[in-house]
Amino acid sequence: MTTLTQKHKKIERNVTLLAVLALVTVMIGGIVEIAPLFWIDNTVEEVEGVRPYTPLELAGRNIYVREGCYSCHSQMIRPFRDEVERYGHYSLAAESMYDHPFQWGSKRTGPDLARVGGRYSDEWHVQHLTDPRAVVPESNMPPYAFLAAKDLQSGDMSTHLRALTRVGVPYSEDAIAKANEDLLTQVDPFANSTELEQRYPKVHIRDFDGNPDRLTEMDALIAYLQMIGTLVDFEAGEALEQPR
Ligand code: HEC
Repeated sequence: MTTLTQKHKKIERNVTLLAVLALVTVMIGGIVEIAPLFWIDNTVEEVEGVRPYTPLELAGRNIYVREGCYSCHSQMIRPFRDEVERYGHYSLAAESMYDHPFQWGSKRTGPDLARVGGRYSDEWHVQHLTDPRAVVPESNMPPYAFLAAKDLQSGDMSTHLRALTRVGVPYSEDAIAKANEDLLTQVDPFANSTELEQRYPKVHIRDFDGNPDRLTEMDALIAYLQMIGTLVDFEAGEALEQPR
């Protein structure tokens, strides 16, 4: 007892010794937290249904990023009652695991879009993007009518997919090789889409902008909007919520 108090006194009265020992203690704590990250492959728990974007969705997402939609819209439903009641199930980390860059955002001039997929018809989106006030009179969202007039120039989607594999998005060699074909197949209800559907479950195949003769930026953006937040089946996924 006395020796312990004496040792304690010694440490407390020697600033250098105290600093060194404090540093060692903090380092142990740091190593315990950081070291496991070097041995595990992934910090995000995988969830059934989550898949990489189709080439068309990806092209639409690029337009979303280009136009800065994130400056008014978040894509991150927090697990608070008001948010869950308004937007739907709170966002899971896995749902944005293939997002490079992510679009969580922090500004909500407009509503959160993390579950907007399937909430409106394609026609509604076309009208809303063309002239937001035509459907929501009090809206202050800017119009994006030009998207319907611009042909989609996505560039070589194969290289885009290849680049994403470098940061861990699991596109197969097939998916990369067929990326440009897959992009066109998604807007063509008459094309053979078996492979596309196998590669990307729940993919929506149709013309999105109401003009089947052209593939426009509007097509791509709406294809993206219509799939956001629709991949995970929360009704069937009760087990999802249970800690494992
Ligand atoms: C200046 C802020 C602003 C920008 C930029 C903006 N929006 Fe909006 N957005 C709003 C507001 C406000 C609303 C709510 C009123 C309405 O529906 O128009 C809205 C509503 C929406 C809705 C309907 C959401 C719902 O659940 O009802 C969608 C979809 C949408 N925006 C998509 C987009 C896309 C895509 C872009 C980029 C091309 C974009 N917005 C850019 C402000 C913005």
